[in-house]
Amino acid sequence: MAHSQLYPLEVNPQTEEPFLRLPAPNDNIILTPPRLTDGKYLGPIINDPQVSVWLEGPPIPYLDEYAPGWLELIKGQSDAIIAELKEEERLNPDGPLKLVGGCPVRHIREVLPDGTDIYLGDIGINRAQLEEVFEPEERRQALEVNNSKAIGDPSIIWTFGDYLAPSHHRRGIMTAAMSTILNSWAIPRMGVRFMTGYTFSGNQGSRRVFEKSGFVWKRTLDSGKVVRGERKTLNYLEWKHPDLGA
Ligand SMILES: CC(C)(COP(=O)(O)OP(=O)(O)OC[C@H]1O[C@@H](n2cnc3c(N)ncnc32)[C@H](O)[C@@H]1OP(=O)(O)O)[C@@H](O)C(=O)NCCC(=O)NCCS
Repeated sequence: MAHSQLYPLEVNPQTEEPFLRLPAPNDNIILTPPRLTDGKYLGPIINDPQVSVWLEGPPIPYLDEYAPGWLELIKGQSDAIIAELKEEERLNPDGPLKLVGGCPVRHIREVLPDGTDIYLGDIGINRAQLEEVFEPEERRQALEVNNSKAIGDPSIIWTFGDYLAPSHHRRGIMTAAMSTILNSWAIPRMGVRFMTGYTFSGNQGSRRVFEKSGFVWKRTLDSGKVVRGERKTLNYLEWKHPDLGA
C-alpha cells in the first residue's frame, strides 16, 4: 500500500497539523510547522542573553513587531511543501515519495499532559550561506550557483540554524531535533547529501549539537566578521552522506 506523501510525518487528528516526534526520552517534544500565533513567544526566547549572544541572524533586541512577517514567510514555505505533497498524493496515489526543497516542520514544542503545547524554539534547514568563501564576488557567485541547483541535486550545500529556550537547554533536545530532521526528512525526503555548520567560536553547545549529529569540525573561519560591534570568528563543520564517499 502507498505511503502518505507526508511520510514519516504524523498528522494530529484534531488539528490536521503534521508533526515529527522526537525519540524517547524526548518524545514529549514535537516539531511542527510554524503557526502565526507563535509571534509573542519569539522575543522572550531570542532576547534572552543565553540565546542572543550566539545568534547573528535576527535583529537584537528582537521586537514583537518583527515576528508576523517572519512567521508569514516561514509558514508560507511550510504550507507550500505540504500542499505540494498533498497534490502529488492526489495526482499519483501509488507513486514514489516525492523529493521536496525544504522541511515543513521546524518549530519545537513541548506537549503537556493535557495535550496543549508550548513553543520552545526553532530549527531550520536551508541552503548554506557559505561563510567559508571570504572574497565577496566569489561568494556571491557561489551562493548563486548553490541556490540555483535543482531539488535533489546531491551537490547542494545545506546548513542548519537553531535556537532553544534556555529553560530547556542541556536535555538533549536540539541534538535529537537535528538528528531527527537530518535522518527522517533531509536525507530521504530532500536528498540532502552535504551540509556545513557555522557557530561563533566559543559556542560549545552548538558545536557539540552539530558533532553529535555527525558533523566534523574542520577549522576556524576568520573573515573579519563583525556582529553587533564585536569581531567574531566561526567554527566551520561539515557533514557528508556516505554516498559521497570519504
Ligand atoms: C546550542 C543549543 C541549541 C543547544 O541545545 P541543547 O538542546 O541545550 O543541546 P543538547 O542538550 O542537545 O546538548 C548537546 C551537547 O552539547 C553540550 N552543551 C549544551 N550546551 C552547552 C553549553 N552551554 N556549554 C557546553 N556544552 C554544552 C551538551 O552537554 C551535549 O554534549 P554531551 O552530550 O557531550 O554532554 C542551545 O544552547 C541554544 O539555543 N543556544 C543559543 C542559540 C544558539 O547557540 N544557536 C545556534 C547558533 S549556531
